[in-house]
Amino acid sequence: MTAPKKLFIKTYGCQMNVYDSERMAESLGGQGYIATDRAAEADMILLNTCHIREKAAEKVYSELGRLRPLKEANPGLKIGVAGCVAQAEGAEIMARQPLVDLVVGPQSYHRLPELEAKAQRGEKALDTDFPEEDKFDHLTARPKARRGPTAFLTVQEGCDKFCAFCVVPYTRGAEVSRPADRVMGEARDLVERGVREITLLGQNVNAYHGHDRGLSGLIRDLAGIDGLERIRFTTSHPNDMDDDLIAAHGDCDKLMPYLHLPVQSGSDKILKAMNRKHTAESYIRLIERFRVVRPDLLLSGDFIVGFPGETEADFQATLDLVEAVGYGQAYSFKYSARPGTPAAERAEVDAGEADARLQRLQALLTRQQKATQDGMVGREVTVLFEKPGRMAGQMVGKSEYLHAVHVTSDTVVRGDLAKVRIVESERNSLGGEVIGAVS
Ligand code: SAH
Ligand code: SF4
Ligand code: F3S
Repeated sequence: MTAPKKLFIKTYGCQMNVYDSERMAESLGGQGYIATDRAAEADMILLNTCHIREKAAEKVYSELGRLRPLKEANPGLKIGVAGCVAQAEGAEIMARQPLVDLVVGPQSYHRLPELEAKAQRGEKALDTDFPEEDKFDHLTARPKARRGPTAFLTVQEGCDKFCAFCVVPYTRGAEVSRPADRVMGEARDLVERGVREITLLGQNVNAYHGHDRGLSGLIRDLAGIDGLERIRFTTSHPNDMDDDLIAAHGDCDKLMPYLHLPVQSGSDKILKAMNRKHTAESYIRLIERFRVVRPDLLLSGDFIVGFPGETEADFQATLDLVEAVGYGQAYSFKYSARPGTPAAERAEVDAGEADARLQRLQALLTRQQKATQDGMVGREVTVLFEKPGRMAGQMVGKSEYLHAVHVTSDTVVRGDLAKVRIVESERNSLGGEVIGAVS
């Protein structure tokens, strides 16, 4: 019997790439590969790349440069580029960088085995099509191996929104939903393998239409799976929220009280220029509706500062929106012009000014995050434990609000769900005491 070949995948970008990397590893498992976390011993290295902000391709080239000595030491090593940079610039990368044997775009992962075989024959293998067939239908089934308590599950991909700054509609293609029965099957399988929390993924997950009652219909069906204790979803768009998805936050116990709802800007002029098709006011009203059904909802958002045309007054409107909403978690970015997007043609805000605004926004968001975290002290939460902590005897998990919580306990094991009283708020986590098991 030949020794298994070893596969090393380096994942950049969003959670969808994390999920895709798992699926690619499983698919190549069928070709005799086992995963390794050491690039130096790999027979195949895949870079699963992200194209969302600047210097994406440059980062890939420099990473490839770092891999050159490995290829020199092991001429049999195959190097592949996957993900959103592969989709946008893969052909060019392959032409310019002889180290690259394989390029595969996000909608073609089910063709990996053929591409791998081609690379093994010494040919260059490239696939960046948007095929008609659904890659997930053709990806080999997930093996039955035991796994950790949390998992991602992609239910929707692609985006038809075309925000003026964003590459996703070009790299991931048009919006596609996976049929609910497939998702249910995969979820049941994950639960059998030890998963207790599933995060449903989509670039616009609440545009999901693989269930006749949309994302909330899917969530309600998933909630019926015994052994699945927690459901989350990300990322949503304000324009795709429907009444039942809001209602589910109030009446579906397994749906966690955490909502990531990017708004990008608080200025209506900038929102219009971004092609967001909502206003600051409509966003705030939407949040209010969620808070009526779930007052303790922890809200998370994404912001872009320095979008072309953003004035100090527009930026102030973003700060005002943040003050009005109150975020428990947030991600903020300096605008980055992406080739091929409409906004890339427009005059940019002075870079120093954009940096200064980003710092001001981040200072405000950090204050809100810290206040939210500090407000947890004294409260009782439930924690799903995932791994040992840094200190001996510690276990770390996530609360329903997605805060990292650590406890010192010799009874709690990975995969346990326990009631915990929060006793301290540290820089990036909470400390707690176990009060008891969750029945
Ligand atoms: N589908 C999600 C987000 C996708 S990208 C949504 O619609 O909200 C994740 C985040 O990256 C975006 O929310 C945005 O804040 C940021 N982003 C996307 N393109 C960007 C760009 N060109 N420059 C800076 N930030 C960007
Ligand atoms: Fe990008 Fe906008 Fe689509 Fe989000 S909704 S993926 S920001 S185009
Ligand atoms: Fe990046 Fe593609 Fe995700 S551009 S953020 S890896 S969808």
